[in-house]
Amino acid sequence: MAHTGRSLRLGVNIDHVATIRNARGGRHPDPVRAARLAAQAGADGITAHLREDRRHISDEDIRRLSTEIDLPLNLEMAATAEMLAVALRHKPHAACLVPEKRAEVTTEGGLDVIGGESHLQPFVTRLNDAGIRVSLFIDPDLGQLDAAVRIGAPVVELHTGSYCEAEGRKRDTELRRLVEAAAHAEALGLECHAGHGLSYETVAPVAAIPTILELNIGHFLVGEAIFSGLDSAIKRMRALMDKARAESHGEKSA
Ligand code: PXP
Repeated sequence: MAHTGRSLRLGVNIDHVATIRNARGGRHPDPVRAARLAAQAGADGITAHLREDRRHISDEDIRRLSTEIDLPLNLEMAATAEMLAVALRHKPHAACLVPEKRAEVTTEGGLDVIGGESHLQPFVTRLNDAGIRVSLFIDPDLGQLDAAVRIGAPVVELHTGSYCEAEGRKRDTELRRLVEAAAHAEALGLECHAGHGLSYETVAPVAAIPTILELNIGHFLVGEAIFSGLDSAIKRMRALMDKARAESHGEKSA
């Protein structure tokens, strides 16, 4: 029998629906409506980043996403007391700890878990104790994975930004880093996710890494929705992920 392998989940990040809404204030377009549509289009989860400066997702969005959407919510958050209180109030299915700098355009790099063990550990413990699945957003660096285990995180999300931005041979090098990190995560017993900057062009090689169980994708999908609609963009992304995954299983069992 063909080896079916482990399935790959798609978390749709709806932050930039809120970015467009906030450009004018008001309520349109509504990220909760986008989340409902994502569910119908085949997303397995919704991801939203409540930033300290509330530049896109608002507290009210998090409240509504927690209560009005059936899909699991993955709350991306900085390791601050304010965000911990939000997570403990809404009890999302998952929380992904991310580094956050006020002036950055987007999350620029992974968390420094090695340098921040003593700061991060209490957040991981509090979220674990509340039954919230904690992930740490890190660069594909083996030392950072080891540190994630030391502080008790069950999940890591590998930052795919450098891979997506690189071209040619450099992209191959960045892909190898992701492959090695995903294998190391598996060996350490960590569940492995990946995301940031993924597009139709870059998603397949990451989806083909068999020990990665979830991809979180946002900006590209919301941008592409302008041209083809959100439903179509999500379905096409899902199809590319599934095809790459199926082909990689085929190669392994051939
Ligand atoms: N994963 C994490 C931890 C992120 O911070 C982001 C961006 O908010 C994403 C995934 C999605 O990245 P993008 O919007 O570039 O697809």
